[in-house]
Amino acid sequence: MTSSGTTAGSRYAEVYGRWKADPAAFWAEAARAIDWSRPADRTFDPEAGVYGHWFVGAEVNACHNAVDRHVAGGRADQAAILYDSPVTGTTRRITYAELQEEVALLAAVLRDLGVERGDRVVLYMPMVPEALYGMLACARLGAVHSVVFGGFAAKELAARIEDAAPKLVLAASCGIEPGRVVAYKPLLDEACRLSNHKPQACLILQRPQGEAALAEGRDRDWAAEVAAAREAGRRADCVPVAATDPLYILYTSGTTGKPKGVVRDTGGYLVALTWSMLNLYGIQPGEVYWCASDVGWVVGHSYIVYGPLLHGCTTVLYEGKPVGTPDAGAFWRVIAETGAVALFTAPTALRAVKKEDPEAVLMRGHDLSRFRTLFLAGERADPDTVAWAERILGVPVIDHWWQTETGWPIAANPVGLGILPVKHGSPTVAMPGYDVQVLDEGGKPVPADTMGTIAIRLPLPPGCLPTLWRQDERFRESYLAAFPGYYNTSDAGFLDRDGYVYVMGRTDDIINVAGHRLSTGGMEEVLASHPAVAECAVIGIRDSLKGEAPCGFVVLKSGVARPPDVIERELVALVRERIGPVAAFRLALTVGRLPKTRSGKILRGTMKKIADGEPWTTPATIDDPAILEEISAALHARGLG
Ligand code: COA
Ligand code: AMP
Repeated sequence: MTSSGTTAGSRYAEVYGRWKADPAAFWAEAARAIDWSRPADRTFDPEAGVYGHWFVGAEVNACHNAVDRHVAGGRADQAAILYDSPVTGTTRRITYAELQEEVALLAAVLRDLGVERGDRVVLYMPMVPEALYGMLACARLGAVHSVVFGGFAAKELAARIEDAAPKLVLAASCGIEPGRVVAYKPLLDEACRLSNHKPQACLILQRPQGEAALAEGRDRDWAAEVAAAREAGRRADCVPVAATDPLYILYTSGTTGKPKGVVRDTGGYLVALTWSMLNLYGIQPGEVYWCASDVGWVVGHSYIVYGPLLHGCTTVLYEGKPVGTPDAGAFWRVIAETGAVALFTAPTALRAVKKEDPEAVLMRGHDLSRFRTLFLAGERADPDTVAWAERILGVPVIDHWWQTETGWPIAANPVGLGILPVKHGSPTVAMPGYDVQVLDEGGKPVPADTMGTIAIRLPLPPGCLPTLWRQDERFRESYLAAFPGYYNTSDAGFLDRDGYVYVMGRTDDIINVAGHRLSTGGMEEVLASHPAVAECAVIGIRDSLKGEAPCGFVVLKSGVARPPDVIERELVALVRERIGPVAAFRLALTVGRLPKTRSGKILRGTMKKIADGEPWTTPATIDDPAILEEISAALHARGLG
């Protein structure tokens, strides 16, 4: 345990206790930080929604709270966004007044294209300011945005378009990855072709690095439409919506290839994020906050876009990588140049920096004097990486744990309330709103230091998902059915005697690759669709950079004459084509059989142990123990296990 503070100096216990004593009063108080068009009839209505609903009866607009009220309140000339793009060699400072103007113009364009309150708009955009304008323009109109990460392939985009049924798609002509321009438009065209739902229009942001041909009728040029709205003096005002209306849908990996549409309702999210900016992250309005994620992930929604802007901060929008754009000093340069007081990134990004510059030589010459805290999330923060970051930065390094579903951290070290002692390997303690319990298979809380499934006692706090998009039943089945009265996080771990949470891994087939959440079930569906594959299993194996990497074992159909290595290469290409480069699927191994129990269950856990080089024993239930030796040999042949 490293002491970065004392329990005695923290208000955490008092604040958590206050929440527990009266949750509704706690959140009603927090809600005072938000401008409401109409106050709530009830802070929490247990009869509304699937498990109750926050701020029932209230009306609010997210864009007003993130933008307009700051312009009116004296922040017009403060930077709202500092865009730093090493991949294009560009920086831009966008004030709150400029942000308001751009968002109001774009919202007018969207409105003219028929977008109304409740309509869905899909965004397929890289890390450019226009992505934020697009999200906020939707919020301004009361429309529901759904951002799709640029690393997903056309088929994944199609699945999201089909499910969300958007009136409009906002896309850029291309994204820029180190060394290559990723043409988004052909992927969008293919997705529109594959989807049964066809958007009425696509608004395309042409980027000079790779302009796209526009389709007659459907496609509109973003810049031309905005220029026309400006010329005509058209601006759209904020439309109040019900606090319980969805602000966005964000698709995340489920246990099958079909992604889950996580719904974020408006009012509770604004309240929870604002509370977290001050109390959890310890950030004051007006300060510069940097979250180095992507707007395609929940972390980007909450802490690149909404959290910092709601709180009147300056958000840093970074279009680059931790390494290679141009080097492992990029993070330190951006912190120094923007004056960021905090950085939020994934442990994998730090591992990449550490690998290239273990002594942080590239930090020299950068003024990090304003930098106070490093926050890590997205995957388990391994103690080595945390200790390294503490050593080179000399500031607290705070691991915190959450999920797309929750929208904001479940467990953290609340810097704003006074930091608690840091224990490496633990994201610290449950935040107010979350009654975190570790349960056994029968749903009974287990004693301290005992592993189990981590669950949250219902109701979930404001900001967490009320349901899945138009799938209440799937929501119940996926999250509420296993342990009545609880939300099942599908993470496994334990609580120690001090109430510190330890998150050790998933209980389902989700894996975490470079902080990206992926479904091995989804990858198996792709492998199984190859005509030569009889059976397959995908597991996540340990990776020193990315935390986990997917590894596919395939059994070929009898009579397949083509060499296994050719088929393996085809399988790697197929996953990239169907799911996208983000899956980072590079390893397919042909084996004679898959290890199974006598009842036919594939022994993934044992396969993972073999691949990770951990001690393993032959399960008593296996139908043929020799298969495990075969798996081990196949892995050894690739230098694994
Ligand atoms: N659009 C298109 N392609 C993308 C993309 C995007 N927005 N983001 C990633 N990709 C591609 C990459 O180019 C790479 O393609 P390749 O197979 O041709 O090399 C592939 O998807 C895998 O990307 P990634 O997992 O990011 O690996 P990487 O080797 O490019 O970079 C790291 C490694 C560690 C630097 C990088 O993963 C990283 O910065 N991770 C931080 C993760 C993070 O912030 N997660 C957010 C959750 S908190
Ligand atoms: P996502 O929904 O993409 O944000 O991924 C959420 C999952 O990532 C969680 O359910 C965990 O499995 C994992 N995760 C996120 N943050 C942490 C953390 N700090 N420690 C351990 N696992 C984490």
